[in-house]
Formats: sequence, structure tokens, C-alpha cells
Amino acid sequence: MKAIVVTDQAAGTAGMTLVERPEPRAAINDVVVQVHASGFVPTEMEWPSTWTDRAGRDRTPSVPGHEVAGVVAAVGYGTTGLSVGQRVFGITDWHRDGTLAEYVAVEARNLAPLPGDVGFTVGASLPISGLTAWQGLFEHGRLQAGQTVLVHGAAGAVGTMVTQLAHEFGAYVIGTGRAADRQKTLDFGAREFIDLENEALEDAGSVDLVFDVIGGDVQRRSARLIRAGGTLVSVVGPTDVRPTDGLAVDFVVESDRAQLGEIAQRIRDGRLRTNIGDIATLDNAVAALNPTERRKGKTIINVRP
Ligand SMILES: NC(=O)c1ccc[n+]([C@@H]2O[C@H](COP(=O)([O-])OP(=O)(O)OC[C@H]3O[C@@H](n4cnc5c(N)ncnc54)[C@H](OP(=O)(O)O)[C@@H]3O)[C@@H](O)[C@H]2O)c1
Repeated sequence: MKAIVVTDQAAGTAGMTLVERPEPRAAINDVVVQVHASGFVPTEMEWPSTWTDRAGRDRTPSVPGHEVAGVVAAVGYGTTGLSVGQRVFGITDWHRDGTLAEYVAVEARNLAPLPGDVGFTVGASLPISGLTAWQGLFEHGRLQAGQTVLVHGAAGAVGTMVTQLAHEFGAYVIGTGRAADRQKTLDFGAREFIDLENEALEDAGSVDLVFDVIGGDVQRRSARLIRAGGTLVSVVGPTDVRPTDGLAVDFVVESDRAQLGEIAQRIRDGRLRTNIGDIATLDNAVAALNPTERRKGKTIINVRP
């Protein structure tokens, strides 16, 4: 099968090459998915799991991309709940070969049915950003209706999902980003926008929840804005600050069939919009994933256009 592989961590995405690889087999509880569309997170080249298996052994050449939408092509021994021919989407294991390939092996429990009226391109854009937003707001952040949420990077892949879900849930959303992100952030449901490069973050006032995708100084300053009992939710690594009388949580998203279903339902009925930028084929994926200028929205690779 055709697949994009990486072998050299220092080379980053520039080291991606399109090669022929053996098709994966379905291990116990796996399915093999014929990939129709694949999503890639630009920071994957920094994740240890891109380079080693769970025991820390080199696993290169590895196939990046961990969001998939496709069709079940084979079912492993003991696999229940999904059948051959079924449309599915979800997140694949960080430590195994990913979705920038014609086929991927994935544990069935990490996939959910993809409704027939949600296209594969949209399906591949949802799992990581949608589930990260859902879990950060509702599980780790314990969001309540009426609370104020400060969403960093609100025009990004995760941020647009966070903004929409928090807004739908009845929260007051203040989004942040760069000057050019203002209108997009407001269009996705934020009530206010702070341009982090030209305006004071402290203008946000007191908030109940900070959803941080940036880290560093932005995160430290944000922690001071959190009311007693509030939460700093980070997805960019362990936090070195904790809000006074509050919690700081850093987490890594997990696939969840029921939550994927909630997200798909919201796409179907228009409560949620996805944030796709460029769309490319697998043959053009290396160039598309190495843009020469800043891209807006998520790049999706249509493996079976
Ligand atoms: N732990 C987890 O489970 C998990 C899950 C998903 C994502 N993540 C992480 O979350 C981060 C965001 O992911 P994403 O897919 O949402 O990325 P993205 O689509 O690039 O969104 C990030 C947004 O934040 C903006 N931004 C970044 N730094 C900024 C700064 N200093 N000032 C103003 N705006 C800034 C970006 O603008 P520019 O494009 O102009 O820089 C972009 O609009 C990544 O580090 C990713 O690895 C973690």
C-alpha cells in the first residue's frame, strides 16, 4: 500500500516521504480500516510516540496521522461491535502506524460509526480536535452553564471546537489569538476576542475556566485570572502553575465512541462546524503538510478521493 513515513525526528515534517509499505494486519480486537481521509496534527513530529513503541524501542519508519475516516476492511480475532463495510471514524493509537496510508490497523473500541450523511473529509477532521474540546470542557473542566471560558488559540483546530461546544452549553466564551483571527473567532461563537500580540490578556477579567493550547507565559498569566474553584485545562504538557483555590489539569485526548457520536450528531444538525483549511491527496500530502506560508484551518488528506 502507499503510505507516508518518517524516519528522522530532526527533519520534522520535511522528512516525510511517500513509499510502499506492507498492508497492516488486524491484531486481536483490531479492525483494519481502508482510509478514505486522514487528519494530521502538526506537532506529531515532537511526540515520543511517533518514534518509539510503548517499550521505548525505535519503531521507524513510522506512519504519522492519527485521525481517520474510512471503511472497515477486515476484522481481527475477538473484535466485536464493528463489521466489514461499515463507515467509521476515530483516533488511532499514538504508538502504532497511523492514517497517512491506504490502510490502518486500529482497536475497534477507538472507532465510532460515521453517519452516512457526514463525509469522510469532515469525519477525519473531527476526532482529535472534537474530543479534545469535549473532554477538556466537560470531563476535566467540569464546565457549568453560565460560566466564563477563556479559550486560547480560539481560531485553531481545537479552539474552534472548544468555542462552539462551550457556547452551545451556555458558557460565555472569550477567545484569543492573533489579530487576523478576530472575526473567525467571533463567527464560531465567542462573545469577545483578545489579540494576544496587541491587547492585554488581563482585559478578560475573571474567568471560571481557561482552555490552553499555547502554554508558557500565556498560561502563567491566564492562571491568575481564574476564580476560586475554577480550572486551568492544558493540552500542551504539564502545567507549572495552579490557579489560587483552583485546579490545573493537563491531559491527552482519548478516543471515545459515545463522545464521537455526540460530535457527529452536532455536525449533522448544524450545531458544530468543522475547521478545514487545505485538502490534498496522498500523492500530494508531503507538500500539503509542509506549507511555505501560514495556513488557516486543518489540512485533511483525502487518501481515496
Ligand atoms: N493533549 C492533547 O490531547 C492535544 C490534543 C490536540 C491538540 N493538542 C495540542 O494543542 C495545540 C493546538 O493544536 P491545534 O490543532 O488546535 O493547532 P492549531 O490549529 O494550529 O491552533 C492553534 C491556534 O493558536 C494560535 N496561537 C498559537 N500560539 C499563539 C500565540 N502565541 N499568540 C496568538 N495565537 C497563537 C495559532 O495561530 P498561528 O497558526 O498563527 O500560530 C492557531 O490559531 C498543539 O500544540 C497540539 O499539539 C494537544
